[in-house]
Amino acid sequence: MVSSFFQYLVSIVALGSLVPRVVDATACIAFDSNFNLYAFGFGGKDFQLGTQDAWSSSVTPKDITSNGRPPFDGKQTTCYLSQFFNAIYVLDGDESDSSAVHIFNAGAGSWSTQKVQPGGPNPGSLVAILDHDTNTFYAVDNGTLSFMDLGQLVVANNTPVSWVLAKNTPYGAAYQPTMALAQNHIFFIGTPNAQPATAEIFVIHFSFFQSTSQGFPNVNGGSPFPETHGQATSFFIANAVQENVAYIPDDGSATYIFNVEQNNTVTFAGPTDKSESTYAASLTALVQLTQNGSISFLPFDPSNPVSGASASWSKIDVQGLPALTTTGSNGSTSGSNSTTSGTGSKPSNGTNPSSSSGSGSNTNSSNGDIAISLPISFTMFVAVLSMILTVF
Ligand SMILES: *[C@@H]1O[C@H](CO)[C@@H](O)[C@H](O)[C@H]1NC(C)=O
Ligand SMILES: *[C@@H]1O[C@H](CO)[C@@H](O)[C@H](O)[C@H]1NC(C)=O
Ligand SMILES: *[C@@H]1O[C@H](CO)[C@@H](O)[C@H](O)[C@H]1NC(C)=O
Ligand SMILES: *[C@@H]1O[C@H](CO)[C@@H](O)[C@H](O)[C@H]1NC(C)=O
Ligand SMILES: *[C@@H]1O[C@H](CO)[C@@H](O)[C@H](O)[C@H]1NC(C)=O
Ligand SMILES: *[C@@H]1O[C@H](CO)[C@@H](O)[C@H](O)[C@H]1NC(C)=O
Ligand SMILES: *[C@@H]1O[C@H](CO)[C@@H](O)[C@H](O)[C@H]1NC(C)=O
Repeated sequence: MVSSFFQYLVSIVALGSLVPRVVDATACIAFDSNFNLYAFGFGGKDFQLGTQDAWSSSVTPKDITSNGRPPFDGKQTTCYLSQFFNAIYVLDGDESDSSAVHIFNAGAGSWSTQKVQPGGPNPGSLVAILDHDTNTFYAVDNGTLSFMDLGQLVVANNTPVSWVLAKNTPYGAAYQPTMALAQNHIFFIGTPNAQPATAEIFVIHFSFFQSTSQGFPNVNGGSPFPETHGQATSFFIANAVQENVAYIPDDGSATYIFNVEQNNTVTFAGPTDKSESTYAASLTALVQLTQNGSISFLPFDPSNPVSGASASWSKIDVQGLPALTTTGSNGSTSGSNSTTSGTGSKPSNGTNPSSSSGSGSNTNSSNGDIAISLPISFTMFVAVLSMILTVF
């Protein structure tokens, strides 16, 4: 008690103007198209943590805080990579304008705010994915599915975008979605009466809910994944749609990675820190952000998931990243900018924010149906990605 109070005082002195405020801060993590990791909303700042190859030793984060950033004070702020456009979209990043989409142009390091017409799903409770090929958000809230096309936005446009109500889900309003994107399909876990290791499917390009579920049997000796609430996010592939989905049940007991081409699951260790968390994935890493700001990763080899299944989670030793200020059930706060001196406020355990990732190609069509054309920059994009890949 005494020592943590002392640490707290030391932190306040060390942080100077970064004295923690009691706010519902919601940080989030996301990758850019070069698979640099970003940590947004830490002590009022944003940081870039480099690529996976740099995480085995301590990381000095690059402060990339710039004008126009959202305050990251939403109820459940989430971040999504638009892979084709190297943009990161933030939903519910500003409590005072919770329906807006904040756009981080990762190439330029700049922010802009895209207005959204009122009337969409509730930003404080929706669960969303960003479809890779249409750059369209799909969100489920209270049993209904809506979509919002972001076209080719890297910088906000003066014309507000709109959510369009697609249809009711077959799962009912009580279903708390655990969903992720792969192969232009949305996979839903934990739907009512689901059998273990199965997912229900929404086919984006034809806008229908598949009538039968798809099984993902385990292939490395683990048990079938449970149909409970959790977090799900998909790994990127250099220049194609996602195929591998990571699902982590809320109890953190295991990490299940299922492949929607093979239709099987490989079981990995659950995160070491089992507290409430959000996740983001690159090509070869699954990254966890806990509510107190710890960041850990699990390496993943998509070419041979089974042989890599004994991989363990490692904490990224980020030097000087401000700890997150959370409002615990006591309304207590913690504020330390050192990863080695955690002060002890417990994260609240209310509604589970979701992190999912997706990314995008182009199109400015009125809905998400069969509308894939390649942007002018596509070949450039592929060229850049191949360069990156040869470096790996
Ligand atoms: C959620 O949907 C149900 C119908 O399924 C409706 O009665 C209820 O008002 C909705 N709640 C909100 C907050 O929109
Ligand atoms: C869609 O196209 C119109 C006209 O070309 C443009 O004004 C609008 O900003 C575009 N919307 C998106 C989301 O790109
Ligand atoms: C995997 O599941 C999808 C979706 O149900 C199905 O279309 C595909 O044929 C399956 N693939 C194999 C190899 O069974
Ligand atoms: C959060 O709540 C879930 C069940 O609602 C529980 O399984 C989990 O252990 C809780 N996590 C923490 C950190 O309290
Ligand atoms: C963290 O604190 C140290 C001093 O303890 C300071 O040198 C460093 O700049 C701080 N980092 C951030 C990101 O505020
Ligand atoms: C609330 O505060 C009390 C007294 O400071 C402490 O014992 C307890 O662990 C705290 N509870 C939480 C959830 O932080
Ligand atoms: C967050 O909490 C975990 C224990 O759950 C602790 O190991 C870690 O050091 C804390 N991280 C920070 C940044 O305070």
